[in-house]
Amino acid sequence: MSGWWCSCILTLTCLSAVVESNSAQVDSAPPSKIAIVGAGIGGTATAHFLRQHFGPEVRIDVYEKATVGGRLATVTVNHQEYESGGSIIHSLNLHMQDFVKQLGLKYRKSVAGKTAVFNGEEFILEETDWYLLDLFRLWWRYGFSFIRLQMWVEEVMEKFMRIYKYQAHGYAFSSVEELLQSLGGSAFINMTRRSVSESLLELGVSQRFIDEVVAGVMRVNYGQSVSIPAFVGAVSLAGAQANLWAVEGGNKLVCSGLLNAAKANLIKAKVTTISPQAAGDAFQYRLSYSPVDEKGTEEGAAAAAELYDIVVVATPLQVNGTGLSFEGFDPPLPEIGGSYHHTVASIVHGYLNCSYFGFADPKLFPFASVLTTDTPGLFFNSAASICPVNISAAFRRKQPQEAAVWKVFSQQPLDKKELKKLFKSYYSVQATDWQAYPQYGTAPGLPPLLLHDGLYYLNGVEWAASAMEMSAMAAKNIALLAYHRWNRQLEMIDQKDLVHKIKTEL
Ligand SMILES: Cc1cc2nc3c(=O)[nH]c(=O)nc-3n(C[C@H](O)[C@H](O)[C@H](O)COP(=O)(O)OP(=O)(O)OC[C@H]3O[C@@H](n4cnc5c(N)ncnc54)[C@H](O)[C@@H]3O)c2cc1C
Ligand SMILES: *[C@@H]1O[C@H](CO)[C@@H](O)[C@H](O)[C@H]1NC(C)=O
Ligand SMILES: *[C@@H]1O[C@H](CO)[C@@H](O)[C@H](O)[C@H]1NC(C)=O
Ligand SMILES: *[C@@H]1O[C@H](CO)[C@@H](O)[C@H](O)[C@H]1NC(C)=O
Ligand SMILES: *[C@@H]1O[C@H](CO)[C@@H](O)[C@H](O)[C@H]1NC(C)=O
Repeated sequence: MSGWWCSCILTLTCLSAVVESNSAQVDSAPPSKIAIVGAGIGGTATAHFLRQHFGPEVRIDVYEKATVGGRLATVTVNHQEYESGGSIIHSLNLHMQDFVKQLGLKYRKSVAGKTAVFNGEEFILEETDWYLLDLFRLWWRYGFSFIRLQMWVEEVMEKFMRIYKYQAHGYAFSSVEELLQSLGGSAFINMTRRSVSESLLELGVSQRFIDEVVAGVMRVNYGQSVSIPAFVGAVSLAGAQANLWAVEGGNKLVCSGLLNAAKANLIKAKVTTISPQAAGDAFQYRLSYSPVDEKGTEEGAAAAAELYDIVVVATPLQVNGTGLSFEGFDPPLPEIGGSYHHTVASIVHGYLNCSYFGFADPKLFPFASVLTTDTPGLFFNSAASICPVNISAAFRRKQPQEAAVWKVFSQQPLDKKELKKLFKSYYSVQATDWQAYPQYGTAPGLPPLLLHDGLYYLNGVEWAASAMEMSAMAAKNIALLAYHRWNRQLEMIDQKDLVHKIKTEL
């Protein structure tokens, strides 16, 4: 494992060399204008990778109707900022790691804190200070389930990490299915179709472990139950491991950093329609947009339009309010089905009501993070004491009896009564109602990445799993796909048996 890991890092650093030699071989003129819709991590990473592949001449316009960062955002409490959207990054998320290094940003390590699982009445599982005791308890309560689950997650991650090698060698995939097939064969495809609970039961993980531990992890990470597909379930479980980090100053700094580094033009406007226009034997795309002002409201300014050789849609098409439509395609573009799950993130500055959790003395409440089981009537998914995005070396967690900043995830906005249950008192509450990630199970299959000749759709990948690294990985794939399709290097797309092919190439 460790040897493989090293060679993976090596191939990543060779990336620019591979790309340059590719560009040297092609004779077709580069595209002159590329548009990206959306300046979240997906859109901004696409701008970065497109610049790498197509070189300095092409103009790259990034349209954003709200704020750069998208679902990576912060709210301010007491002059400190806190992540309200995507917050944690796994240590093996190599694209995110690479961005942070290249942009000269810093890592923010998570500050240790204990976790417990609450079933609406009491804690059914409590982490202690003593690692061996915790292991013993897990073993005593769940038998070998814990170890089986760990091995399963590791196996999925190891196969997933093949993507970094494939991409470093310049290979691209034209659909999420082709990508998954290449990483983990039909087993990976099947993992997007059957539930995580079914897959774990088959491995011999006990129902009790699934209900008491896995459910809590699915609820905190995706606001959904153990009926979500096994692939996103595995990603979610990986996000519950110990080796996690975030970006000092806020994860959204990666997005603004990538835009600058790519020398892309940020256009503050809402794209309303995209339509094709035949140009010789290829197509161009007309983007119509209406400018928005600082607050994100549409200005009176007249709508405008612009022609592009390549367009990448880097926002989920199922989200209400996107306001984007495709016109004049013959045949019409495939319908993108499914809906997005609402998760409300409430950032509460106040005193936790420890008696609600059965602790009469708040000084004795030892947990920084509370997960919950799938209990009918339970009004929140998780609650965690969180750290600001800038933490100094002297930072320590608040004592349980002190006021702290908590992040509560729930399906519905918390009302006064619910807030009074969870908190003895509070100074402020800031709620963000996110259309957070796919409502898994509501789409017929995995959406396409390629909508039309030169029109790409990044967020199709969220239906395998939604995470920052998934959008970053999809951005690299779409940049490669667009590059190879433009230069008709079709042998670089959907190559079979890459695991073995790359071994012999090395
Ligand atoms: C509460 C929450 C917690 C999460 N936790 C984690 C986590 O811990 N770790 C993790 O890895 N992931 C997490 N995620 C998921 C992660 O945040 C997302 O997968 C990722 O940020 C998606 O990035 P994106 O660029 O693909 O999409 P987005 O960030 O949604 O970007 C799309 C952008 O397009 C813009 N846009 C939309 N329509 C138009 C239009 N018509 N014209 C112009 N612009 C438009 C939008 O304003 C938006 O800025 C979490 C998400 C949420 C909501
Ligand atoms: C995936 O599912 C298909 C069809 O149900 C089945 O034939 C195949 O064996 C499965 N693959 C794996 C690796 O389980
Ligand atoms: C927070 O961190 C970022 C990135 O290191 C830095 O640019 C910013 O100035 C910091 N802000 C504060 C208030 O310390
Ligand atoms: C989004 O729009 C669809 C279709 O118009 C509607 O059924 C759904 O309730 C909306 N969802 C939200 C959360 O607004
Ligand atoms: C705290 O929790 C207890 C026990 O559930 C409850 O009786 C009380 O109303 C809650 N709220 C406050 C503000 O103490």
